[in-house]
Amino acid sequence: MTIKDIFNDMSYGPAPEGTDKVDQWLAGHKDGFGLYIDGKWIGSKGDKSFTSSNPANGKKLAKLAQAGDADVDAAVKAARKAQPKWESLGGHGRAKYLYALARLLQKHARKFAVLETLDNGKPIRETRDIDIPLAVRHFYHHAGWAQLQESEFPEHTAIGVVGQIIPWNFPLLMLAWKVAPAIAAGNTVVLKPAEYTSLTALMFAELCQEAGLPAGVVNIVTGDGSTGELLVDHKDVDKLAFTGSTEVGRLIKARTAGTGKKLTLELGGKSPFIVFDDADLDAAVEGLVDAIWFNQGQVCCAGSRLLVQEGVEQALLEKIRLRMQTLRVGDPLDKNTDIGAIVDKVQKKRIEGLVQQGVEQGATLWQPERQPDSAFPDAGCFYPPTLLTNVDSSNIVAIEEIFGPVLSVLSFRTQKEAITLANNSRYGLAASVWSENLNRALDVAPQLKAGVVWVNCTNQFDAACGFGGYRESGFGREGGREGMFEYLAPVRGKTAAEQDLPVPEVSGQQQAGIDQTAKLYIGGKQARPDSGNSLPVISAKGVQIGLVGEGSRKDIRNAVEAAFKAEGWSRTSAHNRAQILYYIAENLGYRADEFTARLVSLTGVDKKQAQREVELSIERLFFYAAWADKYDGAVHQPPLKGVALAMNEPLGIVGIGCPDAAPLLAMVSMLAPVIAMGNRAVLVPSQRFPLLATDLYQVLETSDVPAGVVNIVTGARDSLMQVLADHYQVDGVWYCGSAEGSARVEAASAGNLKRNWVNHGIARDWFGAEGAGREFLREATQVKNVWVPYGD
Ligand code: NAI
Repeated sequence: MTIKDIFNDMSYGPAPEGTDKVDQWLAGHKDGFGLYIDGKWIGSKGDKSFTSSNPANGKKLAKLAQAGDADVDAAVKAARKAQPKWESLGGHGRAKYLYALARLLQKHARKFAVLETLDNGKPIRETRDIDIPLAVRHFYHHAGWAQLQESEFPEHTAIGVVGQIIPWNFPLLMLAWKVAPAIAAGNTVVLKPAEYTSLTALMFAELCQEAGLPAGVVNIVTGDGSTGELLVDHKDVDKLAFTGSTEVGRLIKARTAGTGKKLTLELGGKSPFIVFDDADLDAAVEGLVDAIWFNQGQVCCAGSRLLVQEGVEQALLEKIRLRMQTLRVGDPLDKNTDIGAIVDKVQKKRIEGLVQQGVEQGATLWQPERQPDSAFPDAGCFYPPTLLTNVDSSNIVAIEEIFGPVLSVLSFRTQKEAITLANNSRYGLAASVWSENLNRALDVAPQLKAGVVWVNCTNQFDAACGFGGYRESGFGREGGREGMFEYLAPVRGKTAAEQDLPVPEVSGQQQAGIDQTAKLYIGGKQARPDSGNSLPVISAKGVQIGLVGEGSRKDIRNAVEAAFKAEGWSRTSAHNRAQILYYIAENLGYRADEFTARLVSLTGVDKKQAQREVELSIERLFFYAAWADKYDGAVHQPPLKGVALAMNEPLGIVGIGCPDAAPLLAMVSMLAPVIAMGNRAVLVPSQRFPLLATDLYQVLETSDVPAGVVNIVTGARDSLMQVLADHYQVDGVWYCGSAEGSARVEAASAGNLKRNWVNHGIARDWFGAEGAGREFLREATQVKNVWVPYGD
C-alpha cells in the first residue's frame, strides 16, 4: 500500500502491541504455576489444575493449580503467622513496602498491561492507560495511609487475616483495591483471583518477592468458586472482602452469618445514565462510550440503563448510532481497538441469552454494521456494541445486570420521573447525570440511591475516593479514608459475653393498679399489638409491675411502613435534627427521677447507679445532637479538573435490637446516633426491661419527634429482629444481644444484603469510651461520592 493509497482510504493500519516479554514469562512457566504461599511457590497439595486461555483467540496461556482444602489452610496459617510481626512494623515500616510495590508495578507496567489484555481480552489501550496506572496509584495512595495510620486512625488495630475474592473484569486493579488497604492497615492477606484471569495476580506475587515483602503477608491461591468457598468457610479468617456477582455475595453473607467475620461486598449494578434535555448531547455520547462500551460493558458500575428526556431522545439516539458505527471491535492487542473480547464463552452466552429475552419482551435491537477494516474476528469471544430501544421498565434488560456492551434505553418526561426510574432498581452502585445546569444536577445527585454519582462524566475512579454501593450492590467502601476503616478494628476493652437475662415466670404476685398495658409506639401513636396479647414485666424483686404488648410480624411491618412514610426526616436539615435531640434530652431530664426509679425497680441497681445511667443517657443525647450538624463529609481533589464530594448519607430505615445490660443507656446510645444521622428507626427494646422504652416514647411524644421517625415494638426481641432483618424495606440492622441472635440477624439480612452491625454476643461497656463515638456515626451513615468536573 502506498502512502497515497492510505490517504485515500483513511483506514486503520494494524498497531499491535508486542508480546515478547510476556511470551517469555509464560514460557518460563510452561509446566504450570504453583500457589504463592508463605513467600514461596508451592505445588498444590491436590492434583487438580485448570487452564487459562486468551478469549480473543481461544489459545491456552497457562496451566494453573486449583487450590484445595490443605492449600487454603496452609495459606491462612502463613498469613496468621506473619500478621503480628507485619503489624508491629508500624505505619512507616509498612509504607516503605507499599511504596516499593507501587514503584515495581510502575517499572513493569507494560508487561502487566499486555498480560492482562491477553488473559482478559480487554483492549490494550485500557489496560495500559487505566487498569495498571490506577493499580499503581492505589499502592502509592495506601503507602500514604500506612504512613499516617497511627495519627489518623488512633485507637484502631488491624483486623488480622483477610480473605479476598476478586472477579475477572479488572483483575489487577481489583487486586490492588483489595491488597493495598489491607496490608497498609497491618493485616495479612489470602487472595483468590478469578479463575478466568489469575495471571496478573501471579505476576504480582513475583513483585512481592522482588520487593522483599515478608513471607506470608500476601498469599495467592488460584482456583474456582470452590476454592473461594474454602476461604469463606475457613475458621481462622477474620474478614472477607468480595467483589463479584450479587448472587455469590448473598451466598457469602449467609455462609458467614454468626461467624464473627467482618464482611465487605462489592456487587453488581444496573446503573442509570440520565440525560436531561439541557445536556451537551455530544459530550453525553462520549460519556456513554466510557459508560457502557468500556471493558466490553463488563463493569459493575457500567451505565447500562440510558434514561433520556423525551424531547432529546431521537436526537441523542441518532448520535449514539453514528458513534457506535465507529467503535472498532477486534484484536485487544491492537492499539486502535475500542472493544475487545468478552472474558469467556460462558459470559458471551449469558449476554446473548439476556438480549434475546429482552427482544422477546418487546425491545428493539440495533447493532452497527461491521466495519470493513475492523478486525472483528470470527473466532474468539466477541460481542458487538448493542443498542436496545423500546424498553419497558419491566423488561429483563432494564432490570438484570447484563455485563456486556449492551445499552438499554428508557425515556422520561420530568425530573421527578427520572429520579423514580433511576431508583427503580434493587441495585444502587453508581449513576451519571448529564445536564449543563449544575443546579439541576446537584439537586438530582443526592436523591439517587447510589454510592457514586458522576455529574457530566462517568466511570471515574481514584484511590482517594471511596467506591461502593447501596442496596443489593453491597456494602462497605474501597478507597479513601472510609476504605481504610474497612480493614481496621476499634480497640475494645475487656470482651465479656453479653448476658441475655431470662424473663422470670410470673409468681402470681402483682402490684395494685398496673393492669394497664403499655402499648407499642408506631407512626407517632400508641398502638395495640396485632396479636392482642400482652407480656408481663417483672421487677427485680420478682413482682409483676406492668404489662407490655407482645409485638408480632404484623406490628413490625406496620412500624416499617410508618418509618418509610417518615422519609422527610432523612431530608430535614441537620440543624433541625440536632434541635430535636436536644429537646429529647431536655424532656428526659425533666423526668430523670421517674426513669431512675424505674431502673431501680426493674433492674435492682442502686439509686446512685441508676442516676448515673439516666444522666449519661441525657449526655449521650447531647453528644449526638452536637454531632448531628458536624459529621460532615469531605471534598476530594482527584486527579481531574474537578472535585468529588464525599457526602455522609443516612442508610434509611434502621432496625435496632437492644441489650438487657444498661437498658436505658444502651437503648439511647443506639437510637440517638441513628436518628441524628437522619435515619428512621424501628426499635425493639430489651426483652427483660421493656418499660424503659415505653416510658421513653412518652418523652418522644413531647419532643416534637415527627411521627414514624422512632417506632417501638416490644416483645420477643430476637424473633422480632429476625423479621426486621428479613424485611425488604429495612436498610440496616443494629443488634446488641446474644451470639445466636446476632447470627439470626445476619442470616436473615442476606436476603436484600442489608448492612449489619451486630455484637456477636460480646458485651459493650456502655458507660465507657466504647459506648459512644464516631464508630456509631460511621455505622449510621454511608458515603456517597459525587464527582463534579468543571471547566472546559
Ligand atoms: P462470580 O461472582 O461467580 O465470580 C467472582 C469471584 O467469586 C470469582 O473469583 C469466583 O471464583 C468466586 N466465587 C464464585 N462462587 C463462589 C462461592 N460460592 N464462594 C466464594 N467465591 C466464589 O461471577 P461470575 O460467575 O464470574 O459472573 C457472573 C455475573 O456476575 C456476571 O455476568 C456479572 O453480572 C456479575 N459479576 C459482577 C462483578 C462485579 O464487579 N460486580 C464481577 C464479576 C461478575
